[in-house]
Amino acid sequence: MDSYPMSRTCPLDPPSDYGRLRAEHPITRVRLDFDGSDVWLVTRHEDARAVLGDANFSSDFSTPGFPARLTSQPPGPGTFIRMDPPDHTRLRRLLVPEFTRRRMEALRPAIQRIVDELIDAMAGRTPPVDLVEALALPLPSQVITELLGVPYDDRDFFHETTRLMGDQNVDPERRLKVRNDLRDYLDRLVAVKEEQPADDLLSRLAQGRQEAGVSREEIVGIATLLMVAGYETVANQIAVGTVALLQNPGELAGLQSGPERLAAAVEEVVRHQTVIDYGARRAATADVEVGGRLIRAGEGVVVVLASANRDEERFGDPDRLDLCRDASDHLSFGYGVHQCMGQLLARVQLQVVWETLFRRIPSLRLAVPVEKVPFRYDMFVYGVHELPVTW
Ligand code: HEM
Repeated sequence: MDSYPMSRTCPLDPPSDYGRLRAEHPITRVRLDFDGSDVWLVTRHEDARAVLGDANFSSDFSTPGFPARLTSQPPGPGTFIRMDPPDHTRLRRLLVPEFTRRRMEALRPAIQRIVDELIDAMAGRTPPVDLVEALALPLPSQVITELLGVPYDDRDFFHETTRLMGDQNVDPERRLKVRNDLRDYLDRLVAVKEEQPADDLLSRLAQGRQEAGVSREEIVGIATLLMVAGYETVANQIAVGTVALLQNPGELAGLQSGPERLAAAVEEVVRHQTVIDYGARRAATADVEVGGRLIRAGEGVVVVLASANRDEERFGDPDRLDLCRDASDHLSFGYGVHQCMGQLLARVQLQVVWETLFRRIPSLRLAVPVEKVPFRYDMFVYGVHELPVTW
């Protein structure tokens, strides 16, 4: 039996074992390194959609068979990514008006301003510069804090807490403490927003919560989820996507050919570099047949998004980064009722950052050989720890 997670042989491609599994055992039992339990691994695009779109697969941490990661602690109230309907629906619904296409597009000028400022500052420095520290981290940090109404001065605290929560080497007790610190901080902030509402997402949630039948604790949980989900993901997508683009200079023209081509090009980078490295976890609540295999109630499932995104049956020549292809049904943002709430916000940031970066600094290149870039092999969100660039 294979064990999971599996190792990469090339930093910009998922583990080659995925290709073997897709061809020979697309739905197979594997042993989880984290706790030695056995779960189903789903590696093909079609099967991944079947699982993620089926209400018989639960996202609730407490469902028997739910695949462990490192913590045995339940995620806490409000963390709707780990809940099933109807509770999931009740909480997710609160955020729907906050993340509409219209609202996200309205943020584009502000995001452009932040990117311009960060690139001005970066271009004024003497290279080499770490692109993670100069651009990839501060952009989503500033965007998510402004959106929620969190003081940007507290960004170091957020950076450190989200980093520790995403590190596989941090022991569960420490991780839990860090998560509780973040919750305590956001709890105090929600109390402030209740008393002195401003024009931000947290104030609106705090004000509307009673009418919506949502507790204060749940609002704090939602805020924690948004901070954690909306920061490291975008930062690493920017960084590792930039590496992939720099390794494929012939493709860069696709970023400068107008908004439509740009949007499609960004989808392709997001398909090719799937940062949710460990996959989407579920547990079956009924016996279900998927792709000819019977998954029984109480069995855990890991849907490997990075493998589905390289499925040769769905994407021709899948390992090639081809900014002209239609990659729109990639699964990097998940699928089904838990599909990423912040995907439109992520897309605007990625479109603005890559269009601006390669237009403003066309001679951008890696300052070290790609083998020397410290890739994040030990984190739940794949990416790079640092990215030395020059121009
Ligand atoms: C490139 C950036 C991002 C990637 C790759 C990403 C990926 C994902 C994926 C794969 C899921 C589904 C997990 C599952 O089905 O178990 C998800 C859910 C979620 N994401 Fe994102 N995400 C990104 C950015 C963001 C941003 C910017 C935000 C918020 C501002 C956000 C908020 C959420 C939330 C709240 C959920 C839970 C949705 C639910 O359970 O209904 N994400 N994300």
